[in-house]
Amino acid sequence: MPREVRRLEATDVERIEAEEPAGQGFVRAMWKLQQRDESVLIVAWVDGMPVGSAQLDLRTDPWEVKNLNVDERARGEGIGTALMAEAERLAAPSGRLSVGVGVDNPRARALYERLGFRPTGQESATTYEYVDERGVRRTATETDVLLMKDLAAAPSA
Ligand SMILES: CC(C)(COP(=O)(O)OP(=O)(O)OC[C@H]1O[C@@H](n2cnc3c(N)ncnc32)[C@H](O)[C@@H]1OP(=O)(O)O)[C@@H](O)C(=O)NCCC(=O)NCCS
Repeated sequence: MPREVRRLEATDVERIEAEEPAGQGFVRAMWKLQQRDESVLIVAWVDGMPVGSAQLDLRTDPWEVKNLNVDERARGEGIGTALMAEAERLAAPSGRLSVGVGVDNPRARALYERLGFRPTGQESATTYEYVDERGVRRTATETDVLLMKDLAAAPSA
């Protein structure tokens, strides 16, 4: 399957929006931030379909990966790994990259640790709003553990 992982472009926004739950507004919000050089959305495509993405937040020091998500049907095929590899490539000149992971998300944490991210001992509680699959707006609070990788070390992928 032809696979591509690259930063969001203006012409992608409507295409991705068509796949989002109505009213979610995620890709538009990401595009606004990207236009202000505040973050970059990295998008994975398979056969011309968007199947996953990761936000590289440029407002933090070090830069932080947020909102990593791969469509349920496309998981376990290395797409999450490929999105992280692209985030690392973009962040390489700054030397370090961080990612927050929910304490109740062992799968994602295992992925980050396999890639060489290590706990910093820093924890934070994040409250966020999202629109579920049925279009219902919800609020959730999660405790995140901050992981960090020194990109001067050998690349992971
Ligand atoms: C976490 C998440 C992004 C991982 O995405 P993914 O595309 O499934 O990730 P990968 O396929 O790269 O890696 C997952 C597993 O598949 C395996 N894998 C990697 N490449 C593979 C391939 N080509 N074929 C089969 N399996 C493969 C890996 O060994 C990995 O196993 P591990 O997790 O035990 O290390 C995805 O599960 C997801 O979207 N979860 C919900 C949202 C979420 O929790 N996001 C993280 C927020 S911090």
